[in-house]
Order: sequence, then structure tokens, then C-alpha cells
Amino acid sequence: MFVPNRNIPYSRQLIEEDDIQAVSEVLKSDYLTQGPMVDSFEKTLAEYTGAKYAVAFATGTAALHAAYFAAGIQPGDEVITSPITFAATANAALYLGASPVFVDIEPETGNIDSARIEEKITPKTRLIAPVHYSGHPVDLDPIHEIAKKYNLIVVEDASHAIGAAYKGKRIGALSDMTTFSFHPVKPITTGEGGAALTDNPDFYSRLRLFSSHGITKDPTLLQDKNQGTWYYEMLHLGYNFRITDIQCALGVSQMKKLDRFIRERRELVSRYQEAFKDDDRLIIPFEKDYAFSSWHLVASRLEGDFVSKRKAIFEALRDKKIFVQVHYIPAYWQPYYQSLGYARGICPQAEKFYEAEISLPVFQGMISGEVDYVIDTVKQLLTL
Ligand SMILES: Cc1ncc(COP(=O)(O)O)c(C=O)c1O
Repeated sequence: MFVPNRNIPYSRQLIEEDDIQAVSEVLKSDYLTQGPMVDSFEKTLAEYTGAKYAVAFATGTAALHAAYFAAGIQPGDEVITSPITFAATANAALYLGASPVFVDIEPETGNIDSARIEEKITPKTRLIAPVHYSGHPVDLDPIHEIAKKYNLIVVEDASHAIGAAYKGKRIGALSDMTTFSFHPVKPITTGEGGAALTDNPDFYSRLRLFSSHGITKDPTLLQDKNQGTWYYEMLHLGYNFRITDIQCALGVSQMKKLDRFIRERRELVSRYQEAFKDDDRLIIPFEKDYAFSSWHLVASRLEGDFVSKRKAIFEALRDKKIFVQVHYIPAYWQPYYQSLGYARGICPQAEKFYEAEISLPVFQGMISGEVDYVIDTVKQLLTL
């Protein structure tokens, strides 16, 4: 019987010699930040996705915050999103004084249920932020139709979904803006990091300004054009959300491997799908016909009586070195959101989904013995 010689996490980075080499070259160079690697990484992201512009950020959260700012979100506005997401998707609305409005999910994918969006639209709604949960693309066409009908901006939170595709087109250039996260559990990593992509030059200009204090030296944007070359102006209240050259060198190097990483993830997921396809105790998700998933997560769902045993199964897996995780506690269940007056029960499918979910390990560099070990161990525990 295979015995794992390390903890098997739900996801993790794969760093190889060439990644280390790329970072070490920057460390020996003139620029640790605001140098050429940031530009290179942004170009790589734009080329890969087909977006006209990419702005790299210190985190995926900063990229979301900037995208909502670029969209013109103001105090009092409403931003529609899904509760099955990391808090940041909703928090970015709060940072700008806007209110997140949660729309329930479709259980099969964990993604926002587009059929339920219209009932949540009010005169204050400005933006829809669909989240490609687990890396499985949201069905975007109906969302784009609704956005057009009500004149709303769409920002895809693609934190899980770099390398995924919707109807044959890569995620990144399909809506007004798209954001990525490069946290180590994501398909590629820069340590911490994120990016916002767009085809729209106005959004691009605002994303760029927001990433660095709202300050510009761009002569076309300056109000006073008669100063010296030292001169700059602060046009908005931005932040220091800049990413470093050190991180971007890692990003460029990792981008060369993205398709390989996604291939590996997809191969691992197909092993889980095969192993559990006739098992009515645990559901492993499959792709919809419009989707090519990056499978950031294997968001499995317990069925029947096993739902109430989730905690015991979770702990037992961890005891056996399988570091599963649960994604996500519905965002509005968080005490902070409760303190803002969000009631429990507003998205029943999301709540049911949360109660049954366990994210099984999937990551580039996961070895065959490890996936077999996870499958065997889960099957054993499901007999309890
Ligand atoms: C769906 C989603 N949105 C936003 C974020 C925020 O990204 P970051 O951790 O890079 O700030 C994450 C990352 O955990 C995420 O999973």
C-alpha cells in the first residue's frame, strides 16, 4: 500500500529550477520593482488571453478592487456576485462603499445561476461579478445578455480560471474586465499577485492609475502640461497595489508552463471522475459542454447521509495526510456580513452546496500514487 511521504494539500504551487533561475536573475539586476519584468508579465498575460491590456497587481484582491474602481463603482451602488466565493469578490464592493448583492448558485458547477440574476437587479445595480468557481467557467452568454439589457458592467473574477476557456475562447478577454489571482494555490503563482485585463482603454487607464496612488506622468493625462520631466499628478485616490519585478519574473516563467499545469490537473481530475462515476456517495463535477476547466479545485460533494458526516470525514482525511479544504462558507454567513444585516437563508442552494462540499487534492506535480491513495482513502471513509 502506498504511504505518502508528504502532506497532500488541496492545491499547491510547482516551482522548478528555471523559475528559481528567473527570480535570481532579477535579484542581481538593477530593478527589484517597477522594472522591465512587470511589463513583460503584463504582455505575457495579454498575449495568452487575447486581451488588449493587462495590469499586474500585488494581489488578486487588489485587482478586483481596481476593476470595480475602473468600472466607476461608487457609494450606494450594488454589485451582483455569488456567495460561493472567497470574501474578496464581495469585499471589493464594500471597499468602494457599494453593496454586494448575492445571487444563488447552480449546484452542478457552484457558479452563479444566471436565471436568478434579473430578480436581484435594482436601479442601483451597476456591475455583475461572476466567479469561475473551481476554474469551471461560468456560462457567460446569458450574463452578457442581462448586462446589455440593464447597461451593467461585467467583471469576471477568474482567480481560479487562468488557462480555462469558455466556448473555445480563453478566459481573460470575454467581458469588460477579468481579474486573476496568482496566490500559490492557483494554476500559476507569483507568491502573492494578481492582474486585471481589459480591451477598453478607459478602464485600462483607470486600472493603471489605481495601482499606483492614482498618480501619473502620462503627458496626455496631466492637467498642467508645462512642467518639467520630474512632474507628476495625482488624479484619483489610488493605492500602492504594485507588484514587484521579482514576482513578475516568476510569473513569466510560470506562464510558460501554464498549459502543461492545466493538462496535469485535467488528467488528475479525470482519475477522480472515473473512480467515482458510479458512486452515489460522492459527486465529482464534470465539465458542461461550453466549458474547458482549469480545475483549480476538485469541488466534490457528499450525498445523502454522508453530508452530516462531513466534519468526521474531513478530519479523518487530514489525519491521513490528505489536506482537503472546504470552498466556500457562503460569504454572507461571515460575522462581518451578518453585522451588515445579510440574513442567512438568502441563497439556499449555496448553503446546501457549502454543507456538502469537500475540495480534494489536485495540483501540478501530484504523483499517480498520491491520487490513488486519496481515492482509496476517501472510498474507505465513505463506508463508515
Ligand atoms: C474567487 C477568488 N477571488 C479573489 C481572490 C483573492 O485573491 P488574492 O488572494 O490573490 O488576493 C481569491 C483568492 O483566494 C479567490 O479564490
